[in-house]
Amino acid sequence: MASMRDNSAELPLAELSALGRTPVTEGAGTLGPTNRPQTDFPVPVPLKGHGPARVIALCNQKGGVGKTTTTISLGAALAEYGRRVLAIDFDPQGALSAGLGVQTHDVPTIYDLLLSRSVDPRDAIQKTKVPGLDVIPANIDLSAAEVHLVNEVAREQILASVLRKVSDDYDVVLIDCQPSLGLLTVNALTASHGVLIPLECEFFALRGVALLIETIDKVRDRLNPAIELDGILATMYDSRTLHSREVLERVVDAFGDKVLETVIGRTVKFPDASVAGAPITQFAPEHAAARAYRQLARELVSRGAVA
Ligand SMILES: Nc1ncnc2c1ncn2[C@@H]1O[C@H](COP(=O)(O)OP(=O)(O)OP(=O)(O)O)[C@@H](O)[C@H]1O
Ligand SMILES: [Mg+2]
Repeated sequence: MASMRDNSAELPLAELSALGRTPVTEGAGTLGPTNRPQTDFPVPVPLKGHGPARVIALCNQKGGVGKTTTTISLGAALAEYGRRVLAIDFDPQGALSAGLGVQTHDVPTIYDLLLSRSVDPRDAIQKTKVPGLDVIPANIDLSAAEVHLVNEVAREQILASVLRKVSDDYDVVLIDCQPSLGLLTVNALTASHGVLIPLECEFFALRGVALLIETIDKVRDRLNPAIELDGILATMYDSRTLHSREVLERVVDAFGDKVLETVIGRTVKFPDASVAGAPITQFAPEHAAARAYRQLARELVSRGAVA
């Protein structure tokens, strides 16, 4: 079924490298999309111990740009490289929880942790099928959280205080934000050391980025002076369309080296993997998309965004 719509297997080598597949002949002269040189990021060295975690929010108020897919796939790739990863489902839709195949009902969720300080965050952590990748789930209850938190003391810092209780056990915490810039997202940004912005290679996707960066700047001014923009990740890139290439070129023009070298190609394997409740790195380990997320993991380690 997938092969009918998934053309990546038929692309020539240069195009596959644009999709993030490591070319057979690596090194000198390899060019990625937008003709930037493609670095062969080294495999991360094993860690001697774990924690404290660096917290990264995956954030974009535009819907459907690949936040959840990136949280799952990057988390799984980092876990393959021996990093201890905790993924936080911070969207009432619960797509991250579903994509990782964990329970969301009759279990403590992130909502319970935000609302009650008496719940131990460790009791909400669930293991996934990927060794080293754990998750705190969410369900539709979370949609009521903004209303409940509005009158709390230090309402923007509640997630940060929850994560402080578990971050020593992990190397990285990835927060899958909902598509909004409301109080939950501000909580995620306040709790984070870094932000990763998945950006769909589509013209209208560019329009919201200025507002998102403005929000990050406000959070830096008022709540979290240390927050950094770790990178902008181009997703759903289709090297066969001029449109995708033009959008990527514009993004690089505007944001320079904040744009990660790794580019995630468009492929129907992702929806297929979500249905299976498994990360792409397990569902189709040799697929270009799985390789692209491993490359992203290596790039983020090389940049120092992850230990
Ligand atoms: N590189 C890709 N190629 C093709 N489809 C993709 C790709 N990445 C994600 N998708 C699919 O696009 C849809 C939206 O992706 P995803 O849920 O990751 O986005 P999101 O930003 O988390 O969305 P939301 O804002 O609703 O939370 C999903 O069906 C997913 O399977
Ligand atoms: Mg999502």
